[in-house]
Amino acid sequence: MINLEFMKEIKTIGILTSGGDAPGMNAAIRAITRSAIFNGWRVFGIYRGYEGLIGGDFKELTTESVSNTIQKGGTILKTARSKEFMTPEGREKAYANIQKFGVDALIVIGGNGSLSGAQDFAKEHDVPVIGLPGTIDNDLYGTDSTIGYDTALNTIVECVDKIRDTANSHDRIFFIEVMGRDAGFLAQNSAIAAGAEAAIIPEDQTDIDQLEQFIAHGCRKSKNSSIVIVSESKKDGGAMHYAERVKKEYPGYDVRVTILGHLQRGGSPSAYDRILASRLGYASIEALQEGQRNIMVGISDDKIVYVPINKAVKKNKPIDKELIDVLAVLSI
Ligand code: F6P
Repeated sequence: MINLEFMKEIKTIGILTSGGDAPGMNAAIRAITRSAIFNGWRVFGIYRGYEGLIGGDFKELTTESVSNTIQKGGTILKTARSKEFMTPEGREKAYANIQKFGVDALIVIGGNGSLSGAQDFAKEHDVPVIGLPGTIDNDLYGTDSTIGYDTALNTIVECVDKIRDTANSHDRIFFIEVMGRDAGFLAQNSAIAAGAEAAIIPEDQTDIDQLEQFIAHGCRKSKNSSIVIVSESKKDGGAMHYAERVKKEYPGYDVRVTILGHLQRGGSPSAYDRILASRLGYASIEALQEGQRNIMVGISDDKIVYVPINKAVKKNKPIDKELIDVLAVLSI
């Protein structure tokens, strides 16, 4: 039970987006802003993530400020990866601005690094912090999905479908590299959705060489082209590494590489991401009203859940091994 008696009443909140932008961040900003204003609170948008928190780049948001934004990709508040916020001195400057603008609680929309920063800030300073999972990587523990993941997945699938046309026409193997940092959610699920022949993901680290396995499973024996989705993870070396290996170890194959890069982060958010962001944004204000602090608001089995931020960022979110089996069986 949270003891509300000793808690400072919240009248003003600050919102920021941090780290890599993700489609649906604007829908979240809109939902937080409107839910807070509905509650009678003031809202400050903090620009360029923690950089703006340190530099005092605050602007009041109204209901109108977030009009016509739900369908837009990127983040209207802009974003950054702040090195200064990683230092206690940087966080001290940030706290001075929280006091200067009379902000009683902070809502951070971002991925693993951004929520870790939020956690450090909350440990050192007496400010309730609520995190919202905003990253295409889907790598935050305790939530089934993160804002932006579904849109990025759909973007990847659309691109892979197009590459398949040319791969088929030329009888080629394509290694397509997708984002995800150290998580293979985008790679594994886009491979299933696009009917790829294989996915190489960091979570599937066994003694079995994933490339050998792919070749041994009869790549091109019954098909005239192959698509292999490779997670960008440094552990595996990326798509280039595998293409080079095929050229050296299995000469005779016609190999190409496509690195999808930042196009995966752009574009109008999917309906799923807009609804997820709206629900999480609304729930973040409810959480503050209930006296919650230092939690991430997530979704599990289609229900809103509160996850302690330290768990969300520290625990590794496992990939469902069944997804690996599904792809292996369906790509024969
Ligand atoms: O975390 C989101 C993400 O897009 C990762 O998938 C990727 O590794 C990284 O950000 C790229 O970061 P940047 O835009 O700074 O190059």
